[in-house]
Amino acid sequence: MRCPLVAGNWKMNLTAAEGEALVEELLHIANELFDIDVVVCPPFLSIPKIADVCRRSRVKLGAQNCFWKESGAFTGQVSVRQLIEFRVDYCIVGHSETRGRFGTLEVPEGTTGFFAESEETINLKIKTLLYHGVTPILCVGETLAERGGGITDQVIKAQLEGALKGVDPSELFGLVVAYEPVWAIGTGETCDAAEAERVCAEIRRVLGDIGEPEIADNIRILYGGSVKAGNAKELFAQPNIDGGLVGGASLNAAEFFAIIKGA
Ligand code: 13P
Repeated sequence: MRCPLVAGNWKMNLTAAEGEALVEELLHIANELFDIDVVVCPPFLSIPKIADVCRRSRVKLGAQNCFWKESGAFTGQVSVRQLIEFRVDYCIVGHSETRGRFGTLEVPEGTTGFFAESEETINLKIKTLLYHGVTPILCVGETLAERGGGITDQVIKAQLEGALKGVDPSELFGLVVAYEPVWAIGTGETCDAAEAERVCAEIRRVLGDIGEPEIADNIRILYGGSVKAGNAKELFAQPNIDGGLVGGASLNAAEFFAIIKGA
């Protein structure tokens, strides 16, 4: 039985004080829910403050990215060691915005993204997070052009294989995958629930090939891309969708709570 998970990816929104106020609102409601994991992923600078609030609640803390080295001359980077000091339990990896494949940040395929993310760096981050016992939320998803070209499943399979190369199958238990079609992120255009379910089932099948079907059965697969209170319930009712990775709608406590209830 997979425990549903709803994670809010705040992206580059909210100051630490605004984030603290939002989590304070969430605490009351989230503390009443025992059959679901609720995670907030604030910007790095807000993590210490939000960690203090989360300590008093069932709301878990996630980061939006990390670097794979423990320490050293890596200007602007944050290591997993630095994250776990604040009890960060989850970390998003390979988000399409860090892969540099999103909206106006779209760069030609095969060139370096704005954040220089590649299958190789994603793989290094996953291994480092698993080593430290932090749950990676691995994002995969196709662009509109890839969907139009009929290669959605191929793209996602390659992303999964690249991200998980050399990972011991037994470690896959500590993994969350988020299916985030790039064209549905921040656009208001949600993937049809039946199609999202089809892709998530395919993700589970590929995970079963990479590890073992029994392990894949235990991995939580989330849907992300314009999730709102109005569509969450139908999406989360799909057998292979175990919750959501929510962007814009996680910035409002009432809307986020309605989404959590949908799971
Ligand atoms: P939106 O919910 O704003 O579309 O963002 C989804 C997302 O990118 C979550 O990581």
